[in-house]
Amino acid sequence: MDLSIVGVGHVGLVTAAVFADLGHRVVGLDDDRDKLDTLLAGDVPFHEPGLPELLERVVADGSLTFTDDLSVAVDHGEVIFVCVGTPPLPGGGPDLRFVERVGREVARHATRETVLVEKSTVPANTGVRLTQVIAHELEVRRADATAADPDDVHVHVASNPEFLREGVAVKDTAEPDRIVYGTASDYARDKLREVYAPMVERVGCPVVETDVPTAELIKHASNAFLATRLSFINAVANVCDRVGADVELVAKGMGHDARIGHAFLNAGLGYGGSCFPKDVDAFAHLARQVGYDFGLLEEVRDINVGQRQVVLDRLRDELWHLQGKTIAILGAAFKPGTDDLREAPALYLAESLLAEGATVRMYDPVALDGVAEVLPEVERIDDPLEAARGAHAAVIATEWPQIAGLDPSDLKAALDYPIVVDGRNCLDARAAIDAGLHYHGIGRGHLRVR
Ligand SMILES: NC(=O)c1ccc[n+]([C@@H]2O[C@H](COP(=O)([O-])OP(=O)(O)OC[C@H]3O[C@@H](n4cnc5c(N)ncnc54)[C@H](O)[C@@H]3O)[C@@H](O)[C@H]2O)c1
Repeated sequence: MDLSIVGVGHVGLVTAAVFADLGHRVVGLDDDRDKLDTLLAGDVPFHEPGLPELLERVVADGSLTFTDDLSVAVDHGEVIFVCVGTPPLPGGGPDLRFVERVGREVARHATRETVLVEKSTVPANTGVRLTQVIAHELEVRRADATAADPDDVHVHVASNPEFLREGVAVKDTAEPDRIVYGTASDYARDKLREVYAPMVERVGCPVVETDVPTAELIKHASNAFLATRLSFINAVANVCDRVGADVELVAKGMGHDARIGHAFLNAGLGYGGSCFPKDVDAFAHLARQVGYDFGLLEEVRDINVGQRQVVLDRLRDELWHLQGKTIAILGAAFKPGTDDLREAPALYLAESLLAEGATVRMYDPVALDGVAEVLPEVERIDDPLEAARGAHAAVIATEWPQIAGLDPSDLKAALDYPIVVDGRNCLDARAAIDAGLHYHGIGRGHLRVR
């Protein structure tokens, strides 16, 4: 099929490459000229394992091309996927102006029956709004006697939320757990069936076909639920700390219950990234707008933000005050496998430490360039032990293998004071204590030196 992808960022680029690899002819559009130049030069603008190799293949065989001309993308795509950003607004809702702009532009340029698919994460009923915007633009075209006759033009709005995880995005997109799409017409449903047919045949994943608002809501409900699990276990961790229990074993004991499962029961510094914080807020905001107080989600957010304070409190407990102290933060990206720093807990920690007068050093295997842009006052060091050398304490903020695999004795030898706050519970706690470190995990009260 001829597909277009509008917005070739973390979601759009991976989607475009995987669709091209499935045998579709794909055009990727972005209005960021620098990003396009990077892609046209054969480079990938962000770190995503497996993506460079896949892109090289599908660009070389001509199944994926790029453009910055919307009319080219609209002409090409019988199905057009909207993958633009929906960043958070101060009031909690998402900024939908990029999605709206794409809807308007597609309606202005469409010359035939087209399916416009929301892949960006949007609140329920965005599809209704988009449909109104498109109808208005088509009315304007009809009223303009000089415009080409738009009577053959029909733009079907559909929703096809994306569930990929950065760091394993290629695999998640090529072999999804499930495919969800919501449509309002047989035409759109049949087109989406056709898009995904080769993937369903190969992977055998379930397909959930719904109406548009239901598909939109499945995405917000999924992310809000995952975030709720994380905040739940973090709240449990805070009780574990106080009663001398081990949250790692609590999570293990809970997870063996088939009704609960093990995933997303990792206590720690809290979630970050471009999705969970924004989507939890956006879902709560949507609920408020429609007259329901989803207070649970406010708690989920507050517990998550509170986890950063847990780490800062540990440092203050150990170091009395932070003025003039040097703290090594190991890991900057919001999770391993990506250089994405959006809402990364490590950055919040760094900002707080700097505000309290500490010197901050950071190690990350791939995200240090990004750190330089947002927090130039942080010292960047490309080796974890060098970052720790001579510091008053180290905080683990991202469980990269380079960090989780550190030998506690080496860490002890590097640090000036043997203090480690493991915000991801990724070091071997017993080995760390045996090596002489003052080890603080999250929810590991059984290990506290009292
Ligand atoms: N990143 C994830 O892990 C993830 C996972 C699932 C869903 N999502 C959702 O997918 C959407 C995109 O997220 P992302 O992480 O890929 O964002 P991103 O910022 O990496 O990419 C968005 C891209 O859209 C481009 N863009 C914006 N407006 C445009 C326009 N009018 N025309 C052409 N291009 C335009 C930007 O230049 C950018 O390259 C968001 O709604 C996000 O919530 C993200």
